[in-house]
Amino acid sequence: MNPLHVVILAAGQGSRMKSSLPKVLHRIAGKPMLHHVIDTARKLGAERIHGVIGHGADQVRAITQADDLQWAMQEEQLGTGHAVAQALPNLPDEARVLILYGDVPLTRRETLEDLVSKVSDASIGLLTVTLDDPNGYGRILRNEQDKVTAIVEQKDASEAQKAINEVNTGILAVSARHLKSWLPQLSNANAQGEYYLTDVIAMAANEGVSVDVAQPANEFEVQGVNNRVQLAELERWYQGQQAIRLMTEGATLADPARIDVRGDLSIGQDVLIDINVVFEGTVTVDSEVSIGPNCVLKDCHIGAGTRIEANSVIEGATVGKKAQVGPFARLRPGTQLSDSTKVGNFVETKKALVGEGSKINHLSYVGDAVLGKKVNVGAGTITCNYDGVNKHQTRIGDGVFVGSNTSLVAPVSLEANVTIGAGSTITRDVSEDELAVARGRQRNIANWARPTRKE
Ligand code: UD1
Ligand code: CA
Repeated sequence: MNPLHVVILAAGQGSRMKSSLPKVLHRIAGKPMLHHVIDTARKLGAERIHGVIGHGADQVRAITQADDLQWAMQEEQLGTGHAVAQALPNLPDEARVLILYGDVPLTRRETLEDLVSKVSDASIGLLTVTLDDPNGYGRILRNEQDKVTAIVEQKDASEAQKAINEVNTGILAVSARHLKSWLPQLSNANAQGEYYLTDVIAMAANEGVSVDVAQPANEFEVQGVNNRVQLAELERWYQGQQAIRLMTEGATLADPARIDVRGDLSIGQDVLIDINVVFEGTVTVDSEVSIGPNCVLKDCHIGAGTRIEANSVIEGATVGKKAQVGPFARLRPGTQLSDSTKVGNFVETKKALVGEGSKINHLSYVGDAVLGKKVNVGAGTITCNYDGVNKHQTRIGDGVFVGSNTSLVAPVSLEANVTIGAGSTITRDVSEDELAVARGRQRNIANWARPTRKE
């Protein structure tokens, strides 16, 4: 099979976005539109991806680096044909070329595979769509045998042609040899004074090269983004598709319209997801997990049967089976909760390994800490892990009971079955089975006379 090269047009200004950010860097599901297109190109097995850039080129390049990417500069935007021509010298003669757009982010891989399969020495593939309102698009012209003969742009179209509902998506698959013969023949003698890529269709038809049409399963696959309203429409469609996938795989969603997946989420069966939950990065959620409303889960793993209660924020953490987190818990990167642990309200953890069955139920900060099994950390316990310069470790053995309102000044180690009296500030290690109390002793003064107000 001849190698596949993908050309992505991304030189336009996108002035209707009203933004200092180049249009193709605006995000769908947390990822720049251009990166969606690049990822799709990779899934198709592209040998090389050619980005044609112009407006905001430095910004685009700065956040889009990869070995399989080659840039071509289009200094002046003289039309889509001129744009593809900028990448032409970088395309091997034997390549099959797929032309995509940096502002058409959500075309499905299957649709493009179908399109690319139509390319040969004797044929090209054209992606078209039939719209109720074709206004603004190039129209597909067909002959009596129903073969495509040309595309006419809206501004060059006759009234009769404007009535055609089949339109050009802009997406095209064609051999590099054909492009190298046709692009230099383009003229800009048209209503917009541009070099239209679409004129290659008539050239193909004239040379007896067959124009074979593919169509997407859904219009949104080929919808471009010109303004923030369209950006929001595509975002909602994308999220709707994610919700359908999750339900198909066995999740119950309290409201399929109120879940956002910005990254890769995989789930087991019988997962319950309440409203307004946001998933970011790579998240895996095992079977029978329930997630309460208003949670954010980023780059984390949640073990089977665990309950995440409302308003919890979890990032860079792994949670074992049958654990309970929240409501209002914050698990920061490096947190590892073992099975059957409990982290309750207003608890923050960071780089904390928490052993099986241990509980940190209320109002605590546990950072740079290793906790054994069946530890009970009382309300208001703080690991004082930072001396203003360096971070230090707190080690807590199996079965330790930490009384409420305790400060554990790291580095410090509590061996197994230690008990800490409430209100202690612990600065020295405590040995197995010891009780440590480190607080001012209580004095009771009888018949205390309260101060009186001065006249
Ligand atoms: C183009 C098609 C039209 C199709 C429509 C689908 C042509 C001549 N027309 O029209 O048939 O129905 O897309 O949306 O191809 N770009 C560059 N450099 C340029 C010009 C454009 O990089 O010099 C990029 C733009 O950034 C944009 C894309 O190509 O991402 C399409 O350009 P645009 O001017 O929007 O084409 P349309 O007029 O919409
Ligand atoms: Ca357009």
